[in-house]
Amino acid sequence: MRANWTSMAIAAALALCVAPSVLAQSKPASDFGKREFEGNCASCHGMNAKGNGPLVEMLRKSPPDLTLLAKANGGVFPMARLYDVIDGQNVPSHGSRDMPIWGRDYKIQAAEHYMDMPYDPEAYTRARILALLEYLNRLQVK
Ligand code: HEC
Repeated sequence: MRANWTSMAIAAALALCVAPSVLAQSKPASDFGKREFEGNCASCHGMNAKGNGPLVEMLRKSPPDLTLLAKANGGVFPMARLYDVIDGQNVPSHGSRDMPIWGRDYKIQAAEHYMDMPYDPEAYTRARILALLEYLNRLQVK
């Protein structure tokens, strides 16, 4: 019995040592907005969103620094305007636009993903754009 108590005490002590490091990792394991940005946007906007992606030289217009969006808007992240910019479907077609129309791309991807299962293309698109906006909001310089 005595040996059991000793091993239980050791196990408890080990658990206490491990606990703080487990708590420190309370960040979500997968960051959907970040993954989405790095997969679809960083090619032009850069991994740090400052507008220095590898495709920049091929664009007519340089992508803006996306970490300064709040600063340029009096410290407020312009959520609704950016939603429309990223979605791109309700933006009047004046001239050409280098920035892809993500609302349309996401709807095509949803159709390919769900095939003949019932789904809501608006909700799918909205979830992806909101995840991007939430991530961009975290990148804003104060
Ligand atoms: C092919 C290059 C390219 C890709 C890929 C791209 N962008 Fe852009 N983006 C641009 C350019 C260039 C602009 C500047 C406006 C324009 O010319 O259309 C821009 C503008 C923006 C703006 C507007 C900022 C403002 O103040 O109006 C936002 C927000 C933005 N992009 C977010 C994104 C997000 C999020 C993604 C990924 C889903 C993305 N971009 C992917 C090229 C790109």
